[in-house]
Amino acid sequence: MRKNKLNKSKLILGIETSCDETAASLIRMDKKKITVLANLVYSQIKEHEPFGGVVPEVAARKHLEILPRLLDRSRKKIRLDFKGVDYIAVTVGPGLVTSLMVGVDTAKTLALMYNKPLIPVNHLSGHIMSALLPNGKSGEIKKISWPALALVVSGGHTELVLVKDYTAFSKVGGTVDDAAGESFDKVAKMLKLGYPGGPFIEQAARKGEAGRYNFPRPMSNQWENLNYSFSGLKTAVRVLLAKKTEQTPSFKADIAAAFQEAVVDSLLIKLELAIEKYQPKYILLGGGVADNKLLRRGFAALARKHKLPFYMAQAKYTQDNAVMIAHMGLLMEKDAILPKRLAQITANPNLGYD
Ligand code: KG4
Ligand code: ZN
Repeated sequence: MRKNKLNKSKLILGIETSCDETAASLIRMDKKKITVLANLVYSQIKEHEPFGGVVPEVAARKHLEILPRLLDRSRKKIRLDFKGVDYIAVTVGPGLVTSLMVGVDTAKTLALMYNKPLIPVNHLSGHIMSALLPNGKSGEIKKISWPALALVVSGGHTELVLVKDYTAFSKVGGTVDDAAGESFDKVAKMLKLGYPGGPFIEQAARKGEAGRYNFPRPMSNQWENLNYSFSGLKTAVRVLLAKKTEQTPSFKADIAAAFQEAVVDSLLIKLELAIEKYQPKYILLGGGVADNKLLRRGFAALARKHKLPFYMAQAKYTQDNAVMIAHMGLLMEKDAILPKRLAQITANPNLGYD
Protein backbone atom coordinates (compact mmCIF):
# COMPACT_ATOMS: atom_id res chain seq x y z
CA MET A 1 0.00 0.00 0.00
CA ARG A 2 1.58 3.24 -1.06
CA LYS A 3 1.32 6.70 0.41
CA ASN A 4 1.61 9.88 -1.57
CA LYS A 5 4.83 11.86 -1.52
CA LEU A 6 3.74 14.83 0.58
CA ASN A 7 6.07 15.33 3.53
CA LYS A 8 4.49 18.23 5.36
CA SER A 9 0.89 19.31 5.74
CA LYS A 10 -0.01 21.71 2.92
CA LEU A 11 -2.91 24.11 2.35
CA ILE A 12 -4.09 24.44 -1.23
CA LEU A 13 -6.70 26.49 -3.04
CA GLY A 14 -8.48 24.68 -5.90
CA ILE A 15 -10.28 26.31 -8.85
CA GLU A 16 -12.52 24.52 -11.39
CA THR A 17 -14.31 26.15 -14.35
CA SER A 18 -13.99 23.61 -17.16
CA CYS A 19 -17.67 23.33 -18.05
CA ASP A 20 -20.85 24.56 -16.34
CA GLU A 21 -19.91 24.33 -12.67
CA THR A 22 -18.01 27.19 -11.07
CA ALA A 23 -16.09 25.82 -8.08
CA ALA A 24 -13.51 26.79 -5.48
CA SER A 25 -12.10 24.76 -2.61
CA LEU A 26 -9.58 24.86 0.18
CA ILE A 27 -8.09 21.65 1.49
CA ARG A 28 -5.32 20.73 3.87
CA MET A 29 -3.47 17.49 3.22
CA ASP A 30 -0.43 15.51 4.35
CA LYS A 31 0.75 11.95 3.61
CA LYS A 32 -2.23 10.35 5.27
CA LYS A 33 -4.94 12.84 6.06
CA ILE A 34 -7.06 15.36 4.24
CA THR A 35 -9.33 18.07 5.62
CA VAL A 36 -11.81 19.86 3.38
CA LEU A 37 -12.05 23.43 4.65
CA ALA A 38 -14.21 24.75 1.83
CA ASN A 39 -16.07 23.04 -1.01
CA LEU A 40 -18.06 25.65 -2.94
CA VAL A 41 -19.85 24.73 -6.15
CA TYR A 42 -22.18 26.92 -8.15
CA SER A 43 -24.03 24.80 -10.68
CA GLN A 44 -25.16 26.72 -13.76
CA ILE A 45 -28.03 24.32 -14.51
CA LYS A 46 -30.63 27.10 -14.45
CA GLU A 47 -28.72 29.12 -17.03
CA HIS A 48 -28.37 26.25 -19.52
CA GLU A 49 -31.63 24.41 -18.92
CA PRO A 50 -33.66 26.44 -21.48
CA PHE A 51 -31.19 25.35 -24.20
CA GLY A 52 -31.09 21.66 -23.17
CA GLY A 53 -27.29 21.75 -23.09
CA VAL A 54 -24.31 23.89 -22.08
CA VAL A 55 -23.92 27.13 -24.07
CA PRO A 56 -20.17 27.95 -23.94
CA GLU A 57 -20.57 31.74 -24.10
CA VAL A 58 -23.15 31.73 -21.31
CA ALA A 59 -20.97 29.42 -19.17
CA ALA A 60 -17.86 31.61 -19.48
CA ARG A 61 -19.76 34.79 -18.57
CA LYS A 62 -21.29 33.11 -15.55
CA HIS A 63 -17.86 31.85 -14.37
CA LEU A 64 -16.61 35.46 -14.57
CA GLU A 65 -19.46 36.60 -12.38
CA ILE A 66 -19.46 33.76 -9.84
CA LEU A 67 -15.80 32.76 -9.35
CA PRO A 68 -14.73 35.95 -7.50
CA ARG A 69 -17.66 35.48 -5.09
CA LEU A 70 -16.69 31.88 -4.36
CA LEU A 71 -13.05 32.88 -3.84
CA ASP A 72 -14.10 35.61 -1.45
CA ARG A 73 -16.24 33.14 0.51
CA SER A 74 -13.44 30.55 0.68
CA ARG A 75 -11.03 33.21 1.91
CA LYS A 76 -13.41 34.09 4.72
CA LYS A 77 -13.62 30.42 5.72
CA ILE A 78 -9.91 30.33 6.61
CA ARG A 79 -10.07 33.80 8.18
CA LEU A 80 -6.89 34.62 6.28
CA ASP A 81 -6.28 35.96 2.87
CA PHE A 82 -4.61 33.71 0.35
CA LYS A 83 -1.18 34.58 1.80
CA GLY A 84 -1.65 31.55 4.03
CA VAL A 85 -1.99 28.98 1.22
CA ASP A 86 0.98 26.93 0.02
CA TYR A 87 -0.28 26.29 -3.51
CA ILE A 88 -3.01 27.12 -5.99
CA ALA A 89 -4.34 24.35 -8.28
CA VAL A 90 -6.46 25.02 -11.35
CA THR A 91 -8.11 22.91 -14.05
CA VAL A 92 -6.32 23.67 -17.33
CA GLY A 93 -8.24 21.15 -19.49
CA PRO A 94 -9.93 19.33 -21.04
CA GLY A 95 -13.11 21.40 -21.28
CA LEU A 96 -14.63 24.45 -22.93
CA VAL A 97 -11.84 26.84 -23.79
CA THR A 98 -13.54 30.08 -22.77
CA SER A 99 -14.69 28.54 -19.49
CA LEU A 100 -11.23 27.15 -18.73
CA MET A 101 -9.68 30.54 -19.45
CA VAL A 102 -11.67 32.21 -16.68
CA GLY A 103 -10.31 29.78 -14.06
CA VAL A 104 -6.78 29.74 -15.45
CA ASP A 105 -6.45 33.54 -15.70
CA THR A 106 -7.92 34.03 -12.25
CA ALA A 107 -5.52 31.44 -10.78
CA LYS A 108 -2.53 33.03 -12.52
CA THR A 109 -3.49 36.45 -11.19
CA LEU A 110 -3.75 35.10 -7.63
CA ALA A 111 -0.43 33.25 -8.01
CA LEU A 112 1.24 36.51 -9.07
CA MET A 113 -0.43 38.63 -6.40
CA TYR A 114 0.42 36.30 -3.53
CA ASN A 115 3.63 34.85 -5.00
CA LYS A 116 2.37 31.25 -4.87
CA PRO A 117 3.28 28.25 -7.01
CA LEU A 118 0.50 27.23 -9.38
CA ILE A 119 -0.31 23.59 -10.23
CA PRO A 120 -2.01 22.90 -13.60
CA VAL A 121 -4.45 20.00 -13.21
CA ASN A 122 -6.11 17.71 -15.74
CA HIS A 123 -9.84 17.66 -15.00
CA LEU A 124 -10.13 13.94 -15.73
CA SER A 125 -7.29 12.90 -13.43
CA GLY A 126 -9.08 14.98 -10.80
CA HIS A 127 -12.24 12.91 -11.38
CA ILE A 128 -10.29 9.63 -11.25
CA MET A 129 -8.47 10.39 -8.00
CA SER A 130 -11.64 11.80 -6.38
CA ALA A 131 -12.41 8.14 -5.63
CA LEU A 132 -9.66 8.29 -2.97
CA LEU A 133 -11.15 11.22 -1.05
CA PRO A 134 -12.31 10.43 2.48
CA ASN A 135 -16.01 10.18 3.32
CA GLY A 136 -16.17 12.87 5.97
CA LYS A 137 -14.89 16.47 5.89
CA SER A 138 -11.70 15.21 7.45
CA GLY A 139 -10.25 11.73 7.32
CA GLU A 140 -7.60 9.36 6.07
CA ILE A 141 -6.88 9.35 2.36
CA LYS A 142 -7.76 5.90 1.07
CA LYS A 143 -4.80 3.61 0.50
CA ILE A 144 -4.17 2.09 -2.88
CA SER A 145 -1.79 -0.19 -4.80
CA TRP A 146 -0.80 0.22 -8.44
CA PRO A 147 -1.60 -0.28 -11.19
CA ALA A 148 -5.23 0.73 -10.85
CA LEU A 149 -7.75 0.81 -13.64
CA ALA A 150 -10.20 3.70 -13.73
CA LEU A 151 -13.49 4.17 -15.51
CA VAL A 152 -14.16 7.89 -15.82
CA VAL A 153 -17.61 8.77 -17.09
CA SER A 154 -18.79 12.34 -17.45
CA GLY A 155 -20.77 14.62 -19.72
CA GLY A 156 -17.81 15.15 -22.02
CA HIS A 157 -15.70 11.99 -21.58
CA THR A 158 -15.94 8.22 -21.25
CA GLU A 159 -12.53 6.66 -20.74
CA LEU A 160 -10.76 3.62 -19.39
CA VAL A 161 -7.50 4.78 -17.84
CA LEU A 162 -4.60 2.79 -16.50
CA VAL A 163 -3.20 4.51 -13.41
CA LYS A 164 0.40 3.49 -12.71
CA ASP A 165 1.00 5.89 -9.85
CA TYR A 166 -0.63 8.96 -8.25
CA THR A 167 0.44 11.05 -11.22
CA ALA A 168 0.91 8.57 -14.10
CA PHE A 169 -2.15 8.01 -16.28
CA SER A 170 -2.59 6.44 -19.68
CA LYS A 171 -5.81 6.14 -21.60
CA VAL A 172 -6.41 2.58 -22.79
CA GLY A 173 -9.93 2.96 -24.16
CA GLY A 174 -12.73 5.43 -24.68
CA THR A 175 -15.70 6.54 -26.70
CA VAL A 176 -15.38 7.05 -30.42
CA ASP A 177 -18.37 9.42 -30.50
CA ASP A 178 -20.70 10.63 -27.69
CA ALA A 179 -19.77 10.43 -24.03
CA ALA A 180 -22.01 8.33 -21.77
CA GLY A 181 -23.27 11.42 -19.90
CA GLU A 182 -23.93 13.21 -23.18
CA SER A 183 -26.10 10.30 -24.34
CA PHE A 184 -28.08 10.47 -21.07
CA ASP A 185 -28.56 14.20 -21.68
CA LYS A 186 -29.65 13.75 -25.31
CA VAL A 187 -32.07 10.91 -24.62
CA ALA A 188 -33.58 12.85 -21.69
CA LYS A 189 -34.10 15.76 -24.07
CA MET A 190 -35.89 13.48 -26.58
CA LEU A 191 -38.11 12.19 -23.79
CA LYS A 192 -38.64 15.75 -22.49
CA LEU A 193 -37.55 14.69 -19.02
CA GLY A 194 -35.30 17.57 -17.98
CA TYR A 195 -31.70 18.75 -17.89
CA PRO A 196 -29.09 17.53 -17.11
CA GLY A 197 -30.52 14.22 -18.24
CA GLY A 198 -28.70 11.62 -16.12
CA PRO A 199 -30.58 12.07 -12.84
CA PHE A 200 -33.94 12.41 -14.69
CA ILE A 201 -33.39 9.21 -16.68
CA GLU A 202 -32.38 7.41 -13.50
CA GLN A 203 -35.49 8.64 -11.71
CA ALA A 204 -37.84 7.73 -14.57
CA ALA A 205 -36.15 4.32 -14.95
CA ARG A 206 -37.12 3.38 -11.38
CA LYS A 207 -40.75 3.09 -12.50
CA GLY A 208 -39.97 1.38 -15.81
CA GLU A 209 -39.32 -2.13 -17.01
CA ALA A 210 -35.95 -2.43 -18.73
CA GLY A 211 -36.95 -5.68 -20.46
CA ARG A 212 -39.71 -4.09 -22.58
CA TYR A 213 -37.23 -2.73 -25.13
CA ASN A 214 -33.95 -4.13 -26.23
CA PHE A 215 -31.39 -1.49 -27.19
CA PRO A 216 -28.00 -2.39 -28.65
CA ARG A 217 -24.75 -2.51 -26.63
CA PRO A 218 -22.62 -0.89 -29.39
CA MET A 219 -19.08 -2.25 -29.89
CA SER A 220 -19.45 -4.64 -26.98
CA ASN A 221 -18.76 -7.64 -29.21
CA GLN A 222 -15.50 -6.10 -30.44
CA TRP A 223 -13.12 -7.91 -28.12
CA GLU A 224 -10.02 -6.55 -29.83
CA ASN A 225 -10.50 -2.98 -28.57
CA LEU A 226 -11.59 -1.12 -25.44
CA ASN A 227 -13.72 1.43 -27.24
CA TYR A 228 -17.25 2.60 -26.64
CA SER A 229 -19.86 4.13 -28.91
CA PHE A 230 -23.04 5.75 -27.62
CA SER A 231 -24.37 7.68 -30.60
CA GLY A 232 -25.99 4.59 -32.20
CA LEU A 233 -27.80 3.91 -28.97
CA LYS A 234 -29.22 7.42 -29.00
CA THR A 235 -30.33 6.90 -32.61
CA ALA A 236 -32.02 3.60 -31.66
CA VAL A 237 -34.07 5.52 -29.07
CA ARG A 238 -34.92 8.22 -31.61
CA VAL A 239 -36.12 5.64 -34.17
CA LEU A 240 -38.33 4.00 -31.57
CA LEU A 241 -39.79 7.33 -30.45
CA ALA A 242 -40.58 8.29 -34.04
CA LYS A 243 -42.89 5.26 -34.29
CA LYS A 244 -44.88 6.22 -31.22
CA THR A 245 -47.38 9.07 -31.42
CA GLU A 246 -48.19 9.26 -27.73
CA GLN A 247 -45.46 9.25 -25.10
CA THR A 248 -47.14 8.26 -21.83
CA PRO A 249 -45.17 8.42 -18.55
CA SER A 250 -45.03 4.62 -18.38
CA PHE A 251 -43.70 4.40 -21.95
CA LYS A 252 -41.02 6.98 -21.10
CA ALA A 253 -40.14 5.07 -17.93
CA ASP A 254 -39.66 1.82 -19.88
CA ILE A 255 -37.48 3.56 -22.47
CA ALA A 256 -35.43 5.24 -19.71
CA ALA A 257 -34.92 1.90 -17.93
CA ALA A 258 -33.94 0.04 -21.10
CA PHE A 259 -31.62 2.84 -22.23
CA GLN A 260 -29.95 3.13 -18.81
CA GLU A 261 -29.38 -0.62 -18.73
CA ALA A 262 -27.84 -0.58 -22.22
CA VAL A 263 -25.40 2.22 -21.27
CA VAL A 264 -24.39 0.58 -17.99
CA ASP A 265 -23.98 -2.84 -19.63
CA SER A 266 -21.82 -1.33 -22.38
CA LEU A 267 -19.63 0.46 -19.81
CA LEU A 268 -19.13 -2.69 -17.75
CA ILE A 269 -18.52 -5.11 -20.64
CA LYS A 270 -15.43 -3.16 -21.74
CA LEU A 271 -14.35 -2.53 -18.15
CA GLU A 272 -14.31 -6.29 -17.59
CA LEU A 273 -12.29 -6.78 -20.75
CA ALA A 274 -9.80 -4.16 -19.53
CA ILE A 275 -9.56 -5.88 -16.12
CA GLU A 276 -8.69 -9.15 -17.83
CA LYS A 277 -6.13 -7.45 -20.05
CA TYR A 278 -4.36 -5.24 -17.49
CA GLN A 279 -4.83 -7.21 -14.25
CA PRO A 280 -5.08 -4.10 -12.04
CA LYS A 281 -4.77 -4.22 -8.24
CA TYR A 282 -7.64 -1.77 -7.76
CA ILE A 283 -10.46 -0.39 -9.85
CA LEU A 284 -11.76 3.18 -9.58
CA LEU A 285 -14.95 4.92 -10.72
CA GLY A 286 -15.39 8.68 -11.09
CA GLY A 287 -17.15 11.45 -13.05
CA GLY A 288 -20.73 12.74 -13.15
CA VAL A 289 -22.29 9.48 -14.42
CA ALA A 290 -20.65 7.65 -11.48
CA ASP A 291 -23.60 8.94 -9.46
CA ASN A 292 -25.85 6.46 -11.26
CA LYS A 293 -26.96 3.71 -8.84
CA LEU A 294 -27.27 0.98 -11.49
CA LEU A 295 -23.71 1.71 -12.60
CA ARG A 296 -22.45 1.75 -9.00
CA ARG A 297 -24.11 -1.61 -8.24
CA GLY A 298 -22.76 -3.16 -11.44
CA PHE A 299 -19.26 -1.77 -10.83
CA ALA A 300 -19.18 -3.16 -7.29
CA ALA A 301 -20.49 -6.54 -8.47
CA LEU A 302 -17.82 -6.72 -11.19
CA ALA A 303 -15.11 -5.90 -8.65
CA ARG A 304 -16.34 -8.68 -6.37
CA LYS A 305 -16.50 -11.12 -9.28
CA HIS A 306 -12.81 -10.44 -10.00
CA LYS A 307 -11.92 -10.25 -6.27
CA LEU A 308 -10.65 -6.72 -6.74
CA PRO A 309 -10.71 -3.93 -4.16
CA PHE A 310 -12.39 -0.82 -5.53
CA TYR A 311 -13.22 2.80 -4.78
CA MET A 312 -16.06 4.82 -6.25
CA ALA A 313 -16.20 8.61 -5.94
CA GLN A 314 -18.77 9.54 -3.34
CA ALA A 315 -21.90 11.22 -4.64
CA LYS A 316 -20.75 14.66 -3.43
CA TYR A 317 -17.57 14.36 -5.53
CA THR A 318 -19.01 12.78 -8.70
CA GLN A 319 -20.18 16.07 -10.22
CA ASP A 320 -17.61 18.71 -11.09
CA ASN A 321 -16.06 20.24 -7.96
CA ALA A 322 -12.81 21.90 -6.93
CA VAL A 323 -11.95 19.55 -4.04
CA MET A 324 -10.91 16.93 -6.59
CA ILE A 325 -8.75 19.54 -8.35
CA ALA A 326 -7.00 20.69 -5.14
CA HIS A 327 -6.49 17.02 -4.15
CA MET A 328 -5.01 16.11 -7.54
CA GLY A 329 -2.90 19.29 -7.37
CA LEU A 330 -1.26 18.20 -4.14
CA LEU A 331 -0.60 14.71 -5.48
CA MET A 332 1.37 16.37 -8.31
CA GLU A 333 3.09 18.91 -6.04
CA LYS A 334 6.37 18.46 -7.88
CA ASP A 335 4.80 19.91 -11.03
CA ALA A 336 4.09 23.26 -9.36
CA ILE A 337 5.04 26.25 -11.54
CA LEU A 338 6.66 29.25 -9.89
CA PRO A 339 5.19 32.71 -10.58
CA LYS A 340 8.05 33.72 -12.89
CA ARG A 341 7.19 30.79 -15.20
CA LEU A 342 3.44 31.32 -15.29
CA ALA A 343 3.49 31.88 -19.05
CA GLN A 344 3.86 28.08 -19.34
CA ILE A 345 0.33 27.61 -18.06
CA THR A 346 -2.50 27.98 -20.56
CA ALA A 347 -5.99 26.59 -20.96
CA ASN A 348 -5.97 23.52 -23.19
CA PRO A 349 -9.43 22.30 -24.25
CA ASN A 350 -8.01 19.05 -25.66
CA LEU A 351 -5.57 18.24 -22.86
CA GLY A 352 -4.51 14.58 -22.64
CA TYR A 353 -2.67 12.77 -19.87
CA ASP A 354 0.95 13.01 -21.11
O1 KG4 B 1 -18.47 15.19 -14.49
P1 KG4 B 1 -19.63 16.04 -14.76
O2 KG4 B 1 -20.28 16.77 -13.61
O3 KG4 B 1 -19.31 17.13 -15.83
C1 KG4 B 1 -18.45 16.90 -16.89
O4 KG4 B 1 -17.20 16.96 -16.69
O5 KG4 B 1 -18.99 16.60 -17.98
O6 KG4 B 1 -20.74 15.11 -15.48
C2 KG4 B 1 -21.98 15.58 -15.88
C3 KG4 B 1 -22.73 14.45 -16.58
C4 KG4 B 1 -24.02 14.90 -17.26
O7 KG4 B 1 -24.03 14.39 -18.58
C5 KG4 B 1 -25.11 14.26 -16.42
O8 KG4 B 1 -26.28 13.93 -17.14
C6 KG4 B 1 -24.41 13.00 -15.91
O9 KG4 B 1 -23.10 13.43 -15.63
N1 KG4 B 1 -25.04 12.45 -14.71
C7 KG4 B 1 -25.63 11.23 -14.65
C8 KG4 B 1 -26.16 11.12 -13.34
N2 KG4 B 1 -25.87 12.26 -12.65
C9 KG4 B 1 -25.17 13.06 -13.52
N3 KG4 B 1 -25.76 10.27 -15.57
C10 KG4 B 1 -26.44 9.16 -15.22
N4 KG4 B 1 -27.01 8.97 -14.00
C11 KG4 B 1 -26.90 9.92 -13.03
N5 KG4 B 1 -27.45 9.74 -11.84
ZN1 ZN C 1 -16.24 16.57 -15.04
